[in-house]
Amino acid sequence: MEIRRESLVRVTKEADLSESELSLIEQARHAADMAYAPYSKFHVGSALQLSDGAIVLGNNQENAAYPSGLCAERVAIFAAKANHPNKCINEIMIVVKTDKALKQGFTPPCGSCLQVLWDVQNRQKSPIKIHVQSPDKTLYSVENVNQFLPFGFEL
Ligand code: THU
Repeated sequence: MEIRRESLVRVTKEADLSESELSLIEQARHAADMAYAPYSKFHVGSALQLSDGAIVLGNNQENAAYPSGLCAERVAIFAAKANHPNKCINEIMIVVKTDKALKQGFTPPCGSCLQVLWDVQNRQKSPIKIHVQSPDKTLYSVENVNQFLPFGFEL
């Protein structure tokens, strides 16, 4: 028996984005401006939209002891779950600001952030949309976390 899972990623040019997407991008961009990333110089901002419409922002927080830092996505997710434990996360917008050329053109969340998103999605039993804006302003979107992480770890 084989199990095959494929990803469906929607690719949208800036001119075709909706008002709500543009608003979330703006907020994630603002978060990226406040990132603390002196070591990588890779500034990431994330904006979560909760089920009641509230927005929670996060950005990457680096540390002189490098592994002690945390990604923008997990900063926002943990802040949301700490302050609004009973609200669902409906979507996450991720914006990166960097001078580096990206090998894939866009940067999906890292595996650790996907695992955290996957776990939250399972707990809340409703999909979390993920959007990533690339430096050329194209938006890459998936309808749920499984599109980027088909098999997560579960106990
Ligand atoms: N980073 C994020 O904030 N999100 C990701 O999904 C991947 C990487 C941060 C961590 C570190 O501060 C910098 O980007 C370079 O890896």
